[in-house]
Amino acid sequence: MSKTKISFNCSNCTYKTIKWLGCCPECNNWNTFVEQTTAKQTPAQKRSNKVATLTSLQDIESKQHKRIATNIDEWDRVVGGGLMPHSLIVLTGDPGIGKSTLLLQVAHNLAQKQNVWYFSTEESLSQIKQRAIRLKCTDNAMLFSDQAELHNIIQSAQEQKPDIIIIDSIQNCYLSDAQTLPGSISQLREATFALMRLAKEHHITIIITGHITKEGTIAGPKTLEHMVDAVFYLQRDDNWDIRVLRSVKNRFGTINELGFFEMTTHGLQPVGDINKHTISHSCNAPGALLSVVLEGSRPLIIELQTLTIATRMNIPQRVISGLPHKQVTLIAAILEKYLKVKLSTHDIFVKISGGIKINGYGCDLAIALALLSSYFQQPLDALALGEISLTGEIKPLTKAPMLIKEAQRFGINTFIVSGVQKDIEEQNITRCKHVYELLSLFNFEN
Ligand code: TYD
Ligand code: MG
Repeated sequence: MSKTKISFNCSNCTYKTIKWLGCCPECNNWNTFVEQTTAKQTPAQKRSNKVATLTSLQDIESKQHKRIATNIDEWDRVVGGGLMPHSLIVLTGDPGIGKSTLLLQVAHNLAQKQNVWYFSTEESLSQIKQRAIRLKCTDNAMLFSDQAELHNIIQSAQEQKPDIIIIDSIQNCYLSDAQTLPGSISQLREATFALMRLAKEHHITIIITGHITKEGTIAGPKTLEHMVDAVFYLQRDDNWDIRVLRSVKNRFGTINELGFFEMTTHGLQPVGDINKHTISHSCNAPGALLSVVLEGSRPLIIELQTLTIATRMNIPQRVISGLPHKQVTLIAAILEKYLKVKLSTHDIFVKISGGIKINGYGCDLAIALALLSSYFQQPLDALALGEISLTGEIKPLTKAPMLIKEAQRFGINTFIVSGVQKDIEEQNITRCKHVYELLSLFNFEN
């Protein structure tokens, strides 16, 4: 006789325990435990009788899939030169950022040549129609539905095989036979797994959207990132109207590629020449300095803004946005060590004008000069390029000529680079080998 086993499962996050609990220790939700009885199986019963099939590389069919372009340049570049057929993609971002708008525009362009299904689980069909009219996206054969039950969506897709399915949003979909709550992490995972199988087994390209909730890492689509082929974030800074599309995971393309869009009355318009926007923000004041960094394949001109002020606290503040915190702290330490500039007794505030976020080390020299410029209240009208080592040496950048060329396009002609940067010969170039040279070169006075 087979024995039965009783356990209690959290319906929100699938945490399992042998005793009933009021509050789940994993997700902190109350009254989510449901009793579950399972018949104990012997190891032999558990085993399936299927054997694995093995194939050599020679026998595996290799197909080169042609990417699906939308002709929305910023989108196509970020997704890796067009969508990879049969992949599952997540587009995520804060509510109201423009995910549905962007997807409708993308879907409209895709529908010129492909068979596209659009499942709107958040907005009614008449709201979608109004949006399509506003975006001038009405002239195509795209099909819409407000079906939110995932098995129904999957079954229709298996029978009729569309080329592309868009689900906006996955958080509003549900599985009627699941024992977990709609919108819970476990149901979100189950739904994503089912869609992944649909994409691979039935050769359908699927794009889903998901909000980043306030709890972000728990209930948000972050938990799905490892399950899907590609993840794109649509972001925006409070004081900048440009939306940034960022690739954070892409099995079929490069990551950290950026795409820029501007929200207009007729949807999101790609901003091809983003540097035109950033350069219009710049000003020549103490603490501000230009640099140019490579984000993905594109040079991005940035204006660093810094403020150093004697601290009134025991521990000085470091408020840094748009750059890695550690990078600025390290440069402040290097300046203090080699130039005896007392930054450890100063609060430091650093941001990038326009709210762009970057990751590169190519702007180390610009950060150092901007900090000194604020500390000594001396403006510096130049663009700086270079990495700073822990020993205070200023290192050259491999792509410097290309970065400088881009800056010159906007009339920037005064540059500060590494003393060992050999591949640039323009006039008005100041070269520094070590941070020691920074003070004497720019006449900062104590
Ligand atoms: P939406 O795409 O609904 O955001 P999400 O799907 O990420 O929640 O975008 C909503 C915002 O965009 C809303 O504030 C209105 C604005 N918007 C425009 O400014 N212009 C437009 O053409 C459209 C369609 C929306
Ligand atoms: Mg939406």
